[in-house]
Amino acid sequence: MFDVALFLSNLKTKNIARNIKYIQSLSSTNTVIYEMLMNNEIDIKDVLIAEQQTDGRGRRGDKWFSSKNKSLTFSFIINSEELSINKLSLLVGISIITGIQKAVNIRFKLKWPNDIMYKNKKLGGVLIEKKRSHYIIGIGLNVNDFIFDPSIKSRACSIHSITKNKISRELIMAEIFNSYEEMANKDLSQVIKIWESFCNHMNTIVKFHHSNKIVSAEFSGLNKQGNAIMNINDNKKIFNSGIIEL
Ligand code: BTN
Repeated sequence: MFDVALFLSNLKTKNIARNIKYIQSLSSTNTVIYEMLMNNEIDIKDVLIAEQQTDGRGRRGDKWFSSKNKSLTFSFIINSEELSINKLSLLVGISIITGIQKAVNIRFKLKWPNDIMYKNKKLGGVLIEKKRSHYIIGIGLNVNDFIFDPSIKSRACSIHSITKNKISRELIMAEIFNSYEEMANKDLSQVIKIWESFCNHMNTIVKFHHSNKIVSAEFSGLNKQGNAIMNINDNKKIFNSGIIEL
């Protein structure tokens, strides 16, 4: 069971996540929250959390795996005029890192743009989708998980697999929103600076998947707009999407 009252008692925000809907099982929180918004069943900045997703979705059409009573799978919606997609994408990543650090004092790292990593294993991810004038932000985190789907087993981790302790999902999620609200006031240049300080592949050679190609590239940080700077065959190139493989 996710304890909504415990979540709210740890939440210090003024605007975001003040209302939360908890559903036992649904297809995908990103899909359902938008249907709920269209049916006036949920508002902008409310949160939808599910105990179980039957069709959890990752980036690039991947499936997202999660475990009942162990993972966190939740979504919220903001108006797209509020923030640029570049700032939002980086902001969500740094809010997750900062939020988890406040709750359990472990500093996770970011893989561009917002994969949550620990020693090159993935703890969580973010799926941002644009629908009309809204951004739907979906976050999946492995918290107390200890069994992983065989297809991701060698590449996944959870907070529990690192600390060996059971962690409060409610506290983690509240701290993520507390951090989000604090960080949302920062300007893009500050967000970029913080993001770069959390990056786990700065100035290293990575495999970069883009436009159906995989190339070897050096990740050289973010430009002023928050796009990735990649050095490919001694040519500096700028990307706003793609997948980095470490
Ligand atoms: C990724 O790293 O590929 C993104 C994973 C995003 C998963 C979350 S879980 C909550 C929300 N609902 C979904 O179906 N996906 C996102």
